[in-house]
Amino acid sequence: MIKQSALIVVMERAARRAARGLLRDFGEVEQLQVSRKGPADFVSQADLKAEKVLREELEKARPEFGFLMEESGASKKGDGRHRWIVDPLDGTSNFLHGVPHFAVSIAAERDGELVAGVVYEPLRDETYWAEKGIGAYLNQRRLRVSARRQLREALIATGVPFLGHGDEARHRRYLQEFGRVMGQVAGIRRWGTASLDLAFVAAGRFDGFWEHGLGPWDMAAGIVLVREAGGYVSDLEGGGNMLKTGGILAANDHLHGELGQLLRQA
Ligand code: IPD
Ligand code: CA
Ligand code: CA
Repeated sequence: MIKQSALIVVMERAARRAARGLLRDFGEVEQLQVSRKGPADFVSQADLKAEKVLREELEKARPEFGFLMEESGASKKGDGRHRWIVDPLDGTSNFLHGVPHFAVSIAAERDGELVAGVVYEPLRDETYWAEKGIGAYLNQRRLRVSARRQLREALIATGVPFLGHGDEARHRRYLQEFGRVMGQVAGIRRWGTASLDLAFVAAGRFDGFWEHGLGPWDMAAGIVLVREAGGYVSDLEGGGNMLKTGGILAANDHLHGELGQLLRQA
């Protein structure tokens, strides 16, 4: 049985605490579906509550860490070396529509390097976790990226831009990319939770994933997962600036190059 480090224990515990509230609220959303007034406000409250729980838990366990959180931003500096990067509710649209696919995502950064990631999926009670040099796991099971070498056999995940997410030029560019990739692969999926898309790449379920315009909180934990599962992660130009550019391409080593080329030719 693999023993988690103290850091991962802290991260998983915080994610589980925050998820309790999310689960309760998700149950409510399913009821609210029938009401005429959309539950958008309710969901943003759920999001904020989860963020508050995470902040309190993580702060208590590691007072020296700073924070980068989706809702409250870069709100605390800490010792300047350590930072949590947190998305309290990834997959908000799914949550809002009662679609059972969302997660809590927490990454730990030390001296500018991502060193640990936890993506917790409350509805399945599944913890994807990874630590630099230790490996990637789903609960107790070691994860490896897929070994597929042929794009024509590959199942590729992506994020589709939407209203208010990127300008018209970005939307057009994306459609070209999509067109380029769809003719070459076995299938494309858009599941609406970037942290889980990356966790699924780590688990070898998806063979690759690309998206533009993500926040650091959407991808930080997933990046550690994919790397520790033996995969390769870059920005969409092939460099290492995912958190800065918001663009990401993750896949196994064989497919990463080919997919990157396809996207850049689009
Ligand atoms: C979103 C999800 C989605 C991605 C969006 C993100 P949110 O995060 O990760 O999969 O396509 O770009 O903003 O808003 O649900 O936390
Ligand atoms: Ca998110
Ligand atoms: Ca979110």
